[in-house]
Amino acid sequence: MSGMFSIPRLLSCLTIALAACLALLVAPAVAQEMRGHGGPVRALAVAPDGSLAISGSFDSSAILWDIEQGLAVSVLRGHDSSVNAVAALADGRFVTAGEDGRVLLWRPGRAEPEARPVTHEAPVAALAISPDRRSLATASWDGTARIVPLAGGEARVATTQRGPLNAVGFTADGRSIVTGGHDGALRIVPLDGGTERVVELGLPVNALAVAGDGEIAAGLADGRVIVFSGNGVPRGEIRAAETPIVAVGLSPDGTRIAAAGIRGSVAIINRRSLAVERVLVGPGLPVWSLAFRPGTEELLTGGGDRLVRRWLATTGEHLGAVILAKPSDALTRLADHPGAEVFRACSACHTLDPDGGNRAGPTLYGVIGRRIGTAAGYDFSPALRGMDIIWTKETIARLFEIGPTAYTPGTKMPEQRVTDPEDLKDLVDFIAKATGAE
Ligand code: HEC
Repeated sequence: MSGMFSIPRLLSCLTIALAACLALLVAPAVAQEMRGHGGPVRALAVAPDGSLAISGSFDSSAILWDIEQGLAVSVLRGHDSSVNAVAALADGRFVTAGEDGRVLLWRPGRAEPEARPVTHEAPVAALAISPDRRSLATASWDGTARIVPLAGGEARVATTQRGPLNAVGFTADGRSIVTGGHDGALRIVPLDGGTERVVELGLPVNALAVAGDGEIAAGLADGRVIVFSGNGVPRGEIRAAETPIVAVGLSPDGTRIAAAGIRGSVAIINRRSLAVERVLVGPGLPVWSLAFRPGTEELLTGGGDRLVRRWLATTGEHLGAVILAKPSDALTRLADHPGAEVFRACSACHTLDPDGGNRAGPTLYGVIGRRIGTAAGYDFSPALRGMDIIWTKETIARLFEIGPTAYTPGTKMPEQRVTDPEDLKDLVDFIAKATGAE
């Protein structure tokens, strides 16, 4: 048994090393380091009505975003390490799954997960929701794919393989799941216990998506996307990237496939002709995750720059970052203050104005002189509520000098630091001025 987990462990190390490498390669300017997430955005999903997105990060947090407003609605902390997969349910709930093997169900507005329906013995790599929206499928590096009834009840194992599973989807009729694994096979597994259909591809399958008409698009470790009929017969293929495919998505109308390669390119492929229509070029690369936005022609990508970005899939136009929050009055009033630019990254989660209210983070109005964890009407993490810190320019500076994880262990604020002492001083001066403390 012990040998069984060595491959996933190795993969896990490689993934982390690679992530660190890529993060270094694309290391942004200091002010830019403080965006929603403290690490690359590893997973992305959009709610069926197209309003909210959920992102999962290497920094172990997940964030719910109001896409139109460009605001973080809440930060979800329930994993010990990378959040590898996320899903949005039809009933408004969200699912996160992580390298820690946990699968967590969240209801917006609640700080703690509502349920922990299953825990795998190794990282969970992918999630899928059944066409009738009643079940969730999970795929893990422990070799199993499991089915979780979303109304409650026991999860069950649908299939067990010897190697790690990377990808999962439901067939269009919902009666089988499709898995892709490190062993280089695509499997169609009937949920009634019938015989599995195995399509040998000889190369790890990293991601897959199933269209409404049953076609399966699989992204491979050599950069190819292969399209299969619902029963596993290949129809055609296209080289979408020069590097392994890390994410595959299907447009809501089913006409386009988006495929992201590990070094960052995103190809938009015409599903019928299997020709690359365009390759997204612009900021935010490398891309680690993607999701189309229902009801629109937008594609959302999550990447190494810790941002969620919006693109028009039909033209390739970059529409901007999701967290370009509508600036608060104070930001507009003090736009020339050198700290305003540093604070811009905080504004996805924090307001400064008396009537700004709480976002994903508590309002910072009145923060100077306030005891930690006491802003009215905000659901602080238990860790913060028990701490003995009064916020001053000095303590806030310390918070971002050593980072929230070190200064306030157990906090749900994503890890971020301001490494330039000048920026740090400007930031706390700005907060004091903007909130009327000076
Ligand atoms: C992605 C969202 C997010 C971003 C970006 C963010 N924060 Fe936070 N922040 C939070 C959350 C969530 C909390 C509450 C933490 C808890 O309850 O554990 C918090 C708490 C705080 C607190 C403690 C407040 C209190 O009343 O005790 C301060 C101070 C703070 N943040 C300042 C900042 C500053 C300054 C920045 C930018 C450099 C920033 N935050 C960026 C989400 C964020």
